[in-house]
Parts: sequence; C-alpha cells; structure tokens
Amino acid sequence: MKIGLLGCGTVGSALVSLLDQEGDRLAYLLGEPLEVGRILVRNPDKARSGPIPAGLLTTQLAEVIDDDEIEVVVELIGPGEFALSAIRAALGAKKSVVTANKEILSTHFPELELAAQAVHRDIFFEAAVAGGIPLIRALRVSLFGERLSRIVGIVNGTTNYILTRMQEEHLSLEAALVEAQQLGYAEADPSGDLSGRDAASKLAIIASIAFGGHVDVGDVTVDGIWGVTPSDFDFAERSGGVIKLLAQAERDITTSDAPVRVEVFPAIVMSTHPLASVRGSFNAVFVEGSAVGQLMFSGPGAGGLPTASAVLADVIDAVKNLRNATRAPMRIAEGTRFVEDSAIEAVFALSMEVVDAPGVLAQVSEVFGQHGVSIARMEQDELGGELAHLVFLTHRTRLSAMKATMAALAGLDVIERLHQILRVLE
Ligand code: NAP
Ligand code: HSE
Repeated sequence: MKIGLLGCGTVGSALVSLLDQEGDRLAYLLGEPLEVGRILVRNPDKARSGPIPAGLLTTQLAEVIDDDEIEVVVELIGPGEFALSAIRAALGAKKSVVTANKEILSTHFPELELAAQAVHRDIFFEAAVAGGIPLIRALRVSLFGERLSRIVGIVNGTTNYILTRMQEEHLSLEAALVEAQQLGYAEADPSGDLSGRDAASKLAIIASIAFGGHVDVGDVTVDGIWGVTPSDFDFAERSGGVIKLLAQAERDITTSDAPVRVEVFPAIVMSTHPLASVRGSFNAVFVEGSAVGQLMFSGPGAGGLPTASAVLADVIDAVKNLRNATRAPMRIAEGTRFVEDSAIEAVFALSMEVVDAPGVLAQVSEVFGQHGVSIARMEQDELGGELAHLVFLTHRTRLSAMKATMAALAGLDVIERLHQILRVLE
C-alpha cells in the first residue's frame, strides 16, 4: 500500500522515521508493506531530519494526487487554503485522507466528511486534537454508545507550559512564552495559542464528535491567557488551586436535543482536581459519560513523534478499511443549538490594582452590586506607594454580568489596572 505525504516538516519527517522503524512489524501485522510513494514539500533542497529519500520529494501536488498507486494521502502542511484544496483534491481522486489539521477540521468538518462519504473513503484526524493522545478514536469508537455530558481538558501545550512556568518559577508570561517558543511548543504565530483560538479549534472538533453535530470554531466562546499575571497565581495558590487554560464542552443529557455549551477560558482549578497536576506541555482531557462515568486521557499534546504516532494509527485504520472495502461511519446531525453567552454562569475571580485611598473599596464593590454580582470573598494586598491589589471572588453569577462589571470598572479613575476574569472550576 502506498501513501502520499503532503508536507514533511516536524510531523511529516517523524512519520517517515516511524514507518521506517516499524516497517517490518507493520507489514507483518497488515499483511502488506506500507510504503511512502511521494512527498510534497515547498522547498525540496531544504535539509530534513530522518530517512527521507530525496527521489520521493516533489513540489507538484498533482504528482501525489494523480498517482494511482497512492491510496492514502496524509496532509501535514498546516493552516491555509492550499492544504484545504489539497484535501478536497485527494478525496475527489478517491484517496482516503489522514490529516492533523485542526484549523481545517474545525471549520470544514461536515463538508469534508460528506465528500469522503460520497466516494466511500475515510477522513481521519486523530492528531488534530491533543497530539499523541488517542482521544478522537476513543470518542468516535470506544464511547460511541455513551451519552456524553461533559468534556473538559487542557488541549494547548504551549499555554499549559507557560502557566506551569509562571506558577512554579514565578516567570512573567512573556519570559515563559520565549521558553515555549525555544522548545518548539508554540505555533509559528503564538497569538493562536495565547488567545485560546488553538484550543477552541480543538474543542470544536471534540464537541462535533462527542455530540454528533457540527460545532464550528466560531461557535466557541473564547478567552485566552493574555492577561494572566504572577499575582493571579498567588491568589490561586492561597485559594488552594492553580491556573489552567481549559476547553470545555457540556450538554444536559437529561433532556433530548439540549443546547451545547462550548467554551475556552482560564480557570482556577483546585489542586485536588486531576487536571491541576497536568504540567508543562502535556495535555489531558476529562470525559464524563452516562454509563461509563468519568475518564481521563493524558499525554503529550504535541511534538513530532507523538503526533506522528496518532497519524500512523489513522493511516493503519484507513488501510484496513480500504482492504475491507468499508469506511468508518460518521453521522453529523444538522442544527446544533448552543447555550447563549448570556446564559453562561460560573464562579469568577477578578483582580485589579487600585489607588489605595479612603472610599475606593466601596466604590469598586458598588459596581459589582450594580450589575447583580454577589461577592463571596475579597482580598487586599498593599503594593507599596499609593496602590493596592484587590481580588474579588464572586458567588455563582452570569458571565455577561461579569463582563458588564468589568466594562464599568474600566471607567473608574481609581483603578490603575484590571486583570483578566478567571473562572473557578466547579
Ligand atoms: P511544519 O513543520 O511547518 O511542516 C509543514 C510542511 O508542509 C513542510 O514540509 C512544508 O514544506 C510543507 N508545506 C507548507 N506549505 C506548503 C505548500 N504550499 N506546498 C507544499 N508544501 C508545503 O508543520 P508541522 O509542525 O509538521 O505540522 C503539520 C500539521 O500537523 C499542522 O496542521 C499542525 O497543526 C499539525 N500538528 C502539529 C503538531 C506539532 O507538534 N508540530 C502537533 C499536532 C498537530 P518545506 O519543508 O519545504 O517548507
Ligand atoms: N501549539 C499547539 C499546542 C501545538 O501548544 O498545543 C499542538 O497542536
């Protein structure tokens, strides 16, 4: 069986190495060898790691798509229109497709799945979410019979690395980001990691599979970690927790056709929660099902070899299905309904630097009251000079009320700096 590779960077070259390393064993198990037939790259003269035969490299997509011997196309190019049109072309040419492309899947999943169905081929994308963790297969196959109520997890390794370094080494966000970039965790443009968009793309894919309807990345309510400061970690620690960027999909399974709630947000996670101990660039996802109860999946969320491992598993499934003239069934219901932003409720923490003068606390707390936000706890630290640091922990309240409170507080002269709203994971 020949495979066509689109892209041979971090993940693509790791996949070629894996196929080389595991070739004999896989040939024995599958009953036929898995061979790379052609590799599309942008620059064939670039130095590459691993056993990449120069004769297989091409810059012409058609040399992969039009090769009748190639039955599975693996797309590892990355975001952008070119990768999308390459996947469409591969399906159009009746190839099964394996991709790690979260950007494309989180926006074009129904279209591509229907295109695959039309030619009776597969489109697999295990590596698009949580790198080496076999989460999509678990949701798609192992948990197929479950009514899933909640999936909450850490699905962006870069931000988890940054938050871990801020917590453990008291680094600033900027210094921790530089480290994450040096270690190769961050995307080429890290704004997708920091803004929560990368996690939102992965959550959209998770929710689409878990709930059987299409969830687009644009349906996800997103907040990143742009404004998390070292003092927020001090407050989290005093409260018995750590700060994590969480992606959460929820649905009320006691009623049929209940709306779905999909969100990415920074949260204080109590140290007793299993997600609190997920450190560095690791990912972890907590799944709650009606019959199975609670499950947790954890492991490396990125990196060449872990991601290539997930890609290879998809390639093997695609090969098996082709040989058995079958495909993985997938149903995408239309008309998924979403919980409105205004209906989202949680416990929140909000901190700020204020002028340390009589009447300021009263002025600030009055704004919370004006927006119907009830304060559960307040802490004050002297910052020296004329400033004080205040942290407010609320009772359960609406996100919309918190945002309105924040907007009104931004207009107060006595506030020097408002930090980011943090959730408290319940
Ligand atoms: P990468 O290192 O940037 O490699 C991209 C490859 O695509 C390169 O070989 C590049 O060619 C080729 N390419 C880009 N544009 C092209 C074009 N217009 N025509 C032909 N070839 C083109 O990316 P990666 O890190 O391997 O990631 C690949 C995919 O896996 C992405 O969708 C990413 O989101 C996903 N993913 C990556 C990780 C990870 O840890 N890296 C984890 C999970 C998922 P040249 O080599 O000639 O430049
Ligand atoms: N930038 C991503 C992350 C890479 O940090 O998780 C894997 O998708």
